[in-house]
Amino acid sequence: MFIQWSDELAIGNVLIDTQHRMLMMLCRKLDIAIKMQQSEQTIQRIMLEVKKFAEFHFVSEQNLMHEIGYPDVQDHSKLHLALLVELQVEFSKIRHRTEFPEDLLYYLHQWLSDHIKGEDAKIAEFLRKCPARPIGDGLYGEYRLA
Ligand SMILES: [Fe+2]
Ligand SMILES: [Fe+2]
Repeated sequence: MFIQWSDELAIGNVLIDTQHRMLMMLCRKLDIAIKMQQSEQTIQRIMLEVKKFAEFHFVSEQNLMHEIGYPDVQDHSKLHLALLVELQVEFSKIRHRTEFPEDLLYYLHQWLSDHIKGEDAKIAEFLRKCPARPIGDGLYGEYRLA
């Protein structure tokens, strides 16, 4: 499984795009840890890192939607919540050894790319037509990493 950022996933907001890249990077970190057969404790620590960053990212994305008056903010936020619940279920499967970590990577890959291409892309489209700009929009470019 190869989890990778590609520019077609960009939604046109530096804050969100940077976070999506970071989320991809953390998933790859998890992938590497599993392939290197790191200890269960190490893998669990990285799973926590992924989960905490995903929670943080969802708050940022929900704030962006509020700032631009995005109409489907409630439904999109429910999807985020459902994804976090699912992630928790997947992590507990690993903890209880009912699933191999490789299955988790497949799940994470699907989870991220489907959500970004399907749902986050709708925010991007709204953002392109919307006269309201997110708070600090002009500022983020100064902190662009790549
Ligand atoms: Fe989202
Ligand atoms: Fe997102």
